[in-house]
Amino acid sequence: MKIPMEIKVNHHSYQLEVEPQETLLEVLKNKLKINSLHQGCQEGECGACTVLLNGQPVCSCLILSPQADGGEVLTLEGLNRGGELHPLLEAFMENYAIQCGYCTPGMVMTAYYLINHLNNFSEESIRKGIEGNLCRCTGYVQILQAIKAAKKEKDSGRWW
Ligand code: FES
Ligand code: FES
Repeated sequence: MKIPMEIKVNHHSYQLEVEPQETLLEVLKNKLKINSLHQGCQEGECGACTVLLNGQPVCSCLILSPQADGGEVLTLEGLNRGGELHPLLEAFMENYAIQCGYCTPGMVMTAYYLINHLNNFSEESIRKGIEGNLCRCTGYVQILQAIKAAKKEKDSGRWW
């Protein structure tokens, strides 16, 4: 049985037909070819599939696609603007926060949410905020540096 759904992904609207058991991750990767997302644990443990759904970070492997009907998704691809690299990605690159890159798309989306929404922007609150995103390469130090550097960019007005 197919179910019709409408979803906005990275500022574009799509009308799709999905299987009821298809996850949002599967729809994004397989139907919409959003290549940044990684299919890691598929049980909400690694954070490699993190996207913003209606502005909130979620593990897209845990969301059944019909649950996202009418929603709005933002992924790493949606951050760049007319070929211009987002300051958050620049900060990740400049601070060597990307090594194998497996965690990066999910980590960046969580970081984007934290930078936009954390009231108390302390190292402790960043650490807590990214605890659902596993990175096996960096030891998290460079990632913390990158997030702090990106916040400075936002505070200077260079952000979207
Ligand atoms: S693949 Fe979704 S949390 Fe690991
Ligand atoms: S950079 Fe390799 S898992 Fe994070």
